[in-house]
Amino acid sequence: MNGPSVVLSAEGLSKRFGGLKAVQQVSFKVYAGEILAVIGPNGAGKTTLLNLLSGVYRPSEGRLTLLGRDITQSSMEARCHAGLGRAFQIVRPFGEMTVHENVTVGALFGTPGMRLAHARELAQSLLERTGLAALADRPAHELTLLQDKRMEVARALATQPQVLLLDEVMAGLRPAEAQEAVALVRSVRDSGVSVLFIEHIMPVVRDLADRVVVMDQGQVMAEGSYRDVTSNPLVVAAYLGTEPELGAGELHA
Ligand SMILES: Nc1ncnc2c1ncn2[C@@H]1O[C@H](COP(=O)(O)OP(=O)(O)OP(=O)(O)O)[C@@H](O)[C@H]1O
Ligand SMILES: [Mg+2]
Repeated sequence: MNGPSVVLSAEGLSKRFGGLKAVQQVSFKVYAGEILAVIGPNGAGKTTLLNLLSGVYRPSEGRLTLLGRDITQSSMEARCHAGLGRAFQIVRPFGEMTVHENVTVGALFGTPGMRLAHARELAQSLLERTGLAALADRPAHELTLLQDKRMEVARALATQPQVLLLDEVMAGLRPAEAQEAVALVRSVRDSGVSVLFIEHIMPVVRDLADRVVVMDQGQVMAEGSYRDVTSNPLVVAAYLGTEPELGAGELHA
C-alpha cells in the first residue's frame, strides 16, 4: 500500500550568514493534506528555513522538491507558480491600495495570465472567507494587526497554493482571535492545501498540528506528534534554557 504522498521535501538544507549557520542540514517532508508545525526558540532558524522554502534565499547546501519537481534553484515567483504560497511574519501590504486590490494582486501574481475579472472575484471570495469582506474597499493601511494578518493569509491563498507557508500569523492575536485563525487554517487544509506553519503559541500548535518539527540552533532536534515532542526532555530543555515565557507549563497547555 502506498503511504500519503509527499508534497514538499527538504533534504539537508543549510544556510549560512557569514560564520553563522542559521540552518544546518535540515530534512523533513510535508505530506498531502497535512498541517505541519515548525517550532523552536527565538533565533532557532525557523524564518530562515521558510525563506529557503519560499525562495527568498538559496540554500548553501541541500535540495528542495515540490510536487516531485526540484525547485532548489527556482525563483520565488517560479515556486509560487509551482504551488507554494507564503504569508510573511512581517506583513507589508500595499498601504494605499484597498484590501480587495491587495488580494487581487496576490491572485494575479500567483497565476500568470489570470484575467483581472477572475482575480477580482477570487479576491472577493477570499475576503469573505477571511472575514474581511466589509473592509474590501478600505485602504490597507487602515487595518488592525488582526485584519492585517487575515489579509496576508488571503493574499497567500489568492496565489492558489498547494502548500501554504505561514510565519507566526497568530502572533499578537487575542485567544479568541487565534481560535478564529485556527479555524481558518483548518478550512484551508480541508480544501486540500497542505500547511506548514511557524508558531510560538503552543495551544495553537497543539490544536492545529498533525505533526511538529522542533528546531534549535539551526537544526531539527525533534519531530513527531505534539505530545511526543513536548514530552521530549531535549525540547523542554531548549525552551526552558532560552525562552522563559514558554515554560513547561505552557508547553503542556
Ligand atoms: N539576513 C540575515 N543575515 C544575518 N543573520 C541572519 C539573517 N537572518 C537571520 N539571521 C540569523 O539567523 C539566526 C536564525 O534566525 P531566524 O530569523 O531564522 O530565527 P527564528 O527561529 O525565525 O526566530 P524568531 O522565533 O525570533 O522569529 C539568528 O541568529 C538570526 O540572527
Ligand atoms: Mg522568525
